[in-house]
Amino acid sequence: MELERIKTGINGFDRLINGGFIANTMNLVTGPAGSGKSLFGMQFIYNGVVESDQTGIFVTLEEGSENIRNTMLTYDMDIQKYINEGKLYIIDLGEVEKDSSKGARRIRGFESLAEFLSNLIKISRAKRVVVDSLSPVGNHYENDGDLRQGLFRFGRFLKESKVTTLVTTESISSEKITRFGVEEFIADSFVQLSLREEAGELNRYLLVRKLRFSSHDHKVHKYTIAPEGIMIK
Ligand SMILES: Nc1ncnc2c1ncn2[C@@H]1O[C@H](COP(=O)(O)OP(=O)(O)O)[C@@H](O)[C@H]1O
Ligand SMILES: [Mg+2]
Repeated sequence: MELERIKTGINGFDRLINGGFIANTMNLVTGPAGSGKSLFGMQFIYNGVVESDQTGIFVTLEEGSENIRNTMLTYDMDIQKYINEGKLYIIDLGEVEKDSSKGARRIRGFESLAEFLSNLIKISRAKRVVVDSLSPVGNHYENDGDLRQGLFRFGRFLKESKVTTLVTTESISSEKITRFGVEEFIADSFVQLSLREEAGELNRYLLVRKLRFSSHDHKVHKYTIAPEGIMIK
């Protein structure tokens, strides 16, 4: 059976995963701060709108939506046009969930994230979703078991909603490649970004560690962040 592929449009990436992510799966991108996880997500959403006419939702949990919009503008993404057309949504969930009486941010678990997205996906008919990053949602849980179950249910909700999702988490040390140590088991694919200081220079490397339902490239690839975005060699 031929599986439907969802192209990221990121230069040099789709060929590593046999043409694109598989439709209606949850895909994880991890890496240290500054590795380009947020940019990866922005390009996934923007290219989806421009190249595949697929409506996209970018949920930001760590940076404000203005930051995301400004970053996209620096990469010459013509976002206002698509926001006006209702094809591109940039949503700061912390802002949405702000406790109006106290002005504090209240990020709750995956269930409330799913509840929020469920309405928006229906109204917007989105095909792509980015959650950048899972960390504030994951931090809501007191133990790995609950987190794992919450994320598993979230993945199932996304699949049933017929959206292809990209989620990010930060790797905080070289020994621990994901934030919580459980997300790579639940996600359908797993892309690891890393930064290495070599001969007085910061180099970027990408590795596809997992792709369910498909073969994939197994090599470490150097990449750069250019004015056009991520370029994989
Ligand atoms: N306009 C730009 N041109 C080239 N590189 C940039 C530009 N803006 C940001 N970068 C690079 O992208 C990195 C930030 O990527 P980001 O997606 O925010 O990473 P992460 O989400 O993994 O922390 C910066 O550290 C910087 O090296
Ligand atoms: Mg980021």
